[in-house]
Amino acid sequence: MGIAEIAAEVNAKLDAARATLAREVKGKGDVCLTCSFQAEDVLLTKLAIALDPRIPVLFLDTGYHFAETYAYRDRIAREWGLNLINLLPEKTVAEQETEHGLLYQTAPDRCCGLRKVEPLFKAVAGYRAWLTGLRREQARSRAALEESAMFSLPGGKQVLKLAPLAAWTTRDVWYACEQLAIPLLPLYERGYTSIGCEPCTTLPLDPNDPRSGRWGGRKVECGIHIQAAPAR
Ligand code: ADX
Ligand code: SF4
Repeated sequence: MGIAEIAAEVNAKLDAARATLAREVKGKGDVCLTCSFQAEDVLLTKLAIALDPRIPVLFLDTGYHFAETYAYRDRIAREWGLNLINLLPEKTVAEQETEHGLLYQTAPDRCCGLRKVEPLFKAVAGYRAWLTGLRREQARSRAALEESAMFSLPGGKQVLKLAPLAAWTTRDVWYACEQLAIPLLPLYERGYTSIGCEPCTTLPLDPNDPRSGRWGGRKVECGIHIQAAPAR
């Protein structure tokens, strides 16, 4: 595919994403966006703040992120004037490690539960709609991702979960970020392809699977995208 065709395809996808955001962000309000400060999330943030500069941008601050991620989060938040909401777990890293040791080694599901899932579900319950940068191409577990679906939180509350970039490829994301002059998290330059907490992120173990450096292959999802069984 030539560069002109790539440009046309990405521009069409950008128009579609902007249309979704215009409908959901501008039209009805009460919507938040979760941002890990990876490329697709920063792109989505850029598109969303063009419609509502005060949209709540939720960051799950597990205390275990790379120093580069914290520095980049602070830089983008400052330069773009983000309404950044830093979500903290109930316990600090020191408190959790004193009580339970290194849960990311012994029980990563529990660690993600305490430091990501609990704080996020509590926060998201306060909104009508939740925007994410999830994409189908990222993992087999995301292949059937819908752009828009109701998501059941523990306790039964439903929130509209939106993935305007669901059909985007990594190439599309990188092309759009370049076109929109979005600076990216410097860890990509070191070869990382999917970036979460430092103890659970390495360079990809399989060059054909961008998420293969997450949790050393021990698990594929942290849990924030797995919904509680819908109330019967
Ligand atoms: S993860 O669930 O395994 O961490 P991934 O890193 O691919 O997933 O991110 C998928 C989506 O989860 C992002 O688009 C974002 O909406 C949300 N997300 C992941 N990590 C964070 C974080 N630290 N803060 C806020 N949102 C996050
Ligand atoms: Fe803990 Fe690792 Fe999950 Fe981060 S990704 S919350 S360090 S288990």
